[in-house]
Amino acid sequence: MRRTRSRNIQPLLRECSLSKNDLIAPLFVDEQITTPKPIEAMPGQFRYPVNGIAGAASALWKKGIRAILLFGIPKDKDPEAKSAYDPEGVVQQAVRRVKEDVPGMVIITDVCACEYTDHGHCGIIGKTRGGTDLLNDASLVLMDRIALSHAEAGADIVAPSCMLDGMVGSIRTALDEAGYDEVLIMSYSTKFSSALYGPFREAADSGFSFGDRSTYQINPGNSREAFLESQMDADEGADILMVKPAGFYLDVLSEVATIGLPVAAYQVSGEYSMIKGAAANGWLKEKETILESLTCIKRAGADLIITYFAGEVAGWLDEA
Ligand code: PBG
Ligand code: ZN
Repeated sequence: MRRTRSRNIQPLLRECSLSKNDLIAPLFVDEQITTPKPIEAMPGQFRYPVNGIAGAASALWKKGIRAILLFGIPKDKDPEAKSAYDPEGVVQQAVRRVKEDVPGMVIITDVCACEYTDHGHCGIIGKTRGGTDLLNDASLVLMDRIALSHAEAGADIVAPSCMLDGMVGSIRTALDEAGYDEVLIMSYSTKFSSALYGPFREAADSGFSFGDRSTYQINPGNSREAFLESQMDADEGADILMVKPAGFYLDVLSEVATIGLPVAAYQVSGEYSMIKGAAANGWLKEKETILESLTCIKRAGADLIITYFAGEVAGWLDEA
């Protein structure tokens, strides 16, 4: 094997490389701020004000990033997440601004209610046989409304992340009936109930006031269930599937890729913060670790990678 690893031969035989076309940058837009606000648990990441979001998207565009995933932090929260489908809501405004200033950028919107509900859960809460919990079918109606309002604002792809049963089919029908048959659905199809979302809850102000998300997200020990979740979303009409988090779940990612639809992997906030934190302490080499983490996610089967490192990595890919 050493013959194939000599310095001049090795690059010819590289099996898997990163490309800027694979990367999607998450961006947070906060209705209540006027200047970018650093996210403490995610060094290097910011919440942007509505009037700063197009600038942030444009900076990514100049680095060669062609897709963003938008999350909104609204000024008003209530039990029904009304601000999530307001045509003048924070994400709806952000979508219009980015479309206007950076028309080529593919805009993906996170469709969920947890940033918009006062209880912090991903939809409508009510009594179930197992106690107070996320109501499935009542929340589906809400997701349809949110997805429609994003499509209306100009989103290219909607990304439902609430892990409700039937969410993809329901949103597909709602979009088609309203004439948005060209809008894609990137489903958070296999989403685990993970401790790695911790820093995101500061970033998006989406922590919950009771319980946890384990009654709707998948138990980290379950791989057959994880596959089935993505298969069902494929059957319901998803255009792109997703595995989230990425790095701890590469076995699941490579299985989900066998379904045949494009697969995105979400390298989540905790994966970002672990690398940043260790690098800041001098315990890991930052650039090498980031590139290795992303290369391995790609090798496992991801067509797309949602990563907070997108902008940084795009610059490095230019140098390479
Ligand atoms: C909202 C949502 C979450 C993330 C993306 N969309 C948080 C959660 O499910 O609790 C996590 C992203 C990250 O940690 O980077 N449903
Ligand atoms: Zn949510």
